[in-house]
Amino acid sequence: MPYERTEVSAQEIERQKEICARVRSALGGSERFAMVDTYGCQQNESDSEVLRGYLRSMGYTMTDDEDKADVIAVNTCAVREHATMRVFGNVGALTHLKRVHPERIVILCGCMAQSAEIREQVKKSYRMVDLCFGPHELWRFPELFERTLQVHGLSGARGRVFDAESAESVAEGLPRERDGSVKAWLSIMNGCNNFCSYCIVPYVRGRERSRRSGDVVREAESLVAAGYKDITLLGQNVNSYGRGLDEDVDFAGLLRKINAIPGDFRIRFMTSHPKDATERLFAAMAECEKCAPHIHLPVQSGSDRILRAMNRGYTAEKYLAQVDLARKYIPNLVLTTDVIVGFPGETEEDFLDTLALTEKVRFDSMFTFIYSRRPGTPAAKIEDTTPRAVIQNRFDRLVESAGRVSAELHRAQEGKTFRVLIDGTAKNGGYTLSARTAGGRLVHLRGDESLIGSWANARIVSSNTFALFGEITE
Ligand code: SAH
Ligand code: SF4
Ligand code: F3S
Repeated sequence: MPYERTEVSAQEIERQKEICARVRSALGGSERFAMVDTYGCQQNESDSEVLRGYLRSMGYTMTDDEDKADVIAVNTCAVREHATMRVFGNVGALTHLKRVHPERIVILCGCMAQSAEIREQVKKSYRMVDLCFGPHELWRFPELFERTLQVHGLSGARGRVFDAESAESVAEGLPRERDGSVKAWLSIMNGCNNFCSYCIVPYVRGRERSRRSGDVVREAESLVAAGYKDITLLGQNVNSYGRGLDEDVDFAGLLRKINAIPGDFRIRFMTSHPKDATERLFAAMAECEKCAPHIHLPVQSGSDRILRAMNRGYTAEKYLAQVDLARKYIPNLVLTTDVIVGFPGETEEDFLDTLALTEKVRFDSMFTFIYSRRPGTPAAKIEDTTPRAVIQNRFDRLVESAGRVSAELHRAQEGKTFRVLIDGTAKNGGYTLSARTAGGRLVHLRGDESLIGSWANARIVSSNTFALFGEITE
């Protein structure tokens, strides 16, 4: 696949920032509120931070209170039908609010909004939406927002902006209001070239394009300087980072560069595609002391026939060999995965292959999904005759098995002591803090909120399927 990589010019970004200032002064001095509601994956959470950054520069204060918000932005996900239905439900529910407060602005953005059909549907049937644009247009949100303000008018006259259309690109230097002060997302690339046959992401996120390593490293340095202690590098397939760049760097190389930044912090990354996970990567992970001993390696299925139909580019055997290799390099590796149940044509035998593979690998945790037909993807054309109840039954069996294995692996941690990063509050039977081990396992602790952001040694005293429970020993 050809790599065409266009960068948005610095002047263009500057122009967007000037628009922010213009909007800010046009809106005047009174306090205004904005709310950003995020669906989907970490990429979307990262995009929402940019949206908030822009809104903040336009003079808005962020709120979680829908009733108070002058601007409501819904950053959507298209990966499964359930997610899109929820968005439509929640946006539809804004009808009343909009009737009472016609001057309020509703924005529908993100992956759903990249599809022309969805935009058409929203335009026709979701009259409360004033502005609709996809992820490719995020960098020029101020321009679109200003146009919305102009056509919409603060008087409540109804004009709408739906025609945003721009090319896929890489944009640097966007403002960002980050969520929290301990953990940070760092997007290293965008898009996906894999075209797994069930997946909508390549259609809504466009072709894969990497940021320059210098830009990524600079952002990582500024995060470390700002006190962030847990940095997650984001991409749909981080293992193909660097392709199409005019510099000689791959993901393992990028890990090493970030690892060389002085400071006490952890590096995580997601997601790794098994077809591109290499020995070079495992070696870099083992060598980089700041790199978390965790890999999220979505297997999707344990049946070679289904893997082929999914266009995944590996067999069950190859996957298992990779797991062995990864565990050889990183003995304390925490391994997590995604599995899809009910891909069209999946037989009981295919499913048993999946179950056997997962039981063999013993994943620390597993994200399990029922196949969702995404119009426009190749798999959507395959006839799907398996009754829903059969698929649900397979799903339940997989979830039961995954839960049992997680609980066993968690129980095996009891009595051990881990260096954890306390990253937030929890409400779990007297446990008030949440923390993560280097491998990313969730640990609940007792202690004061002032400990958030600090490292601690935690001895594990009990566990369940989802978490470990510990006491701070130091
Ligand atoms: N780029 C990542 C995943 C992005 S989507 C990767 O390749 O691993 C996250 C997960 O959603 C996928 O791993 C897959 O398990 C699931 N998924 C994607 N499309 C789906 C669909 N049409 N139906 C059900 N699950 C899906
Ligand atoms: Fe979707 Fe496959 Fe790309 Fe992941 S690698 S985003 S599952 S097409
Ligand atoms: Fe969803 Fe878009 Fe992420 S479709 S999973 S929000 S890339």
